[in-house]
Amino acid sequence: MMDTAQILIEKSKTSSRNDIDFNQLDFGKYHTDHMYVVDYNQGEWHDMRIVPYQNLSISPATAALHYGQTVFEGFKAHRAKNGKDVLLFRPERHWERMNKSMERICMPYIPKDVFMDGIIELAKIDRDWVPTQEGASLYFRPFAFAMDAFIRVKPSENYYFIVFCSPVGAYFSGQLNVKIEKEYVRSAEGGIGSAKTGGNYAASLLPAKMAQAAGYQQIMWTDAKEHKYIEETGASNVMFIIDNVLITPKLSTSILDGVTRDSIITIARDWGVKVEERRVSVDEVITALKSKTLNEAFGTGTAAVISPINIINYDGIDYQIPQPNASSFSTKMLKALNDIKYGLVEDPYGWIVKV
Ligand code: COI
Repeated sequence: MMDTAQILIEKSKTSSRNDIDFNQLDFGKYHTDHMYVVDYNQGEWHDMRIVPYQNLSISPATAALHYGQTVFEGFKAHRAKNGKDVLLFRPERHWERMNKSMERICMPYIPKDVFMDGIIELAKIDRDWVPTQEGASLYFRPFAFAMDAFIRVKPSENYYFIVFCSPVGAYFSGQLNVKIEKEYVRSAEGGIGSAKTGGNYAASLLPAKMAQAAGYQQIMWTDAKEHKYIEETGASNVMFIIDNVLITPKLSTSILDGVTRDSIITIARDWGVKVEERRVSVDEVITALKSKTLNEAFGTGTAAVISPINIINYDGIDYQIPQPNASSFSTKMLKALNDIKYGLVEDPYGWIVKV
């Protein structure tokens, strides 16, 4: 091992990079050669290290496996059009959100340098993994979990913080058909819906499986109390263009504060587009669909990027959403975001970290 700053680096002796067809990247199937690992105990994060990607050895009593004290993040690195630079999109915002999620489930704060220094070093070491193919990127998966080997329900005293990377293509393939859910809930107000923690995703699996069996890729969740208001899709936030206004459910304790959501709202406001973050009822959306004032509906997220919705199913009826063309908001926004992510334009917001 050698010591660069405070991060110990142990390089992998082999690489699996040449075994992978970068033109056929599924989302999340592959990993790069290295991972970043930090331990937490006795009140501090320590032993920052980059090591060859490898399995972990943990106790069967590991608290995270039993009580779900675990959080994750996801952000992307893009290959700049000059073919050289690696551009990380808003990693600092992901660091902030990770700490908010950690706070909600009693996990210890991760200092900025512990997060940022590690991901920058990892991006440098595995930089050849950042795809050059159009639409592909290197997805960073930071996560932390409770390591106490102790099955009383309480906050753990030991944690791991790990980051690994996966070269990825599109998250959704084909047309995105969603079903508005009226029976199951992802999260209630006051629950853990705004934290990026595994339990929210576990809650989505059964209803998603049922929706998929009926031909819908995603659930559009509604509020837990009345099933009247739209929340998010679970793998992304959701936005509508109704009468040329960008409308999206306002954040709450049951909705994830999406980084792509925030980026789109920021750019849209700069463009002079009217943006409304408020409660969005299912009735409003269905009425707008029927009166043809709903122009667009799309999911937004790091993995989803901007994914136009094709069909919204509600109460057994499939409603067709108008599909975007060259002058649609979502088409222009996707280009604006990509121009920043791939370094084609000056980044006016300070979102890019260049490696
Ligand atoms: C992301 O967009 O990074 C997500 O976390 C979605 C994930 C469920 C793949």
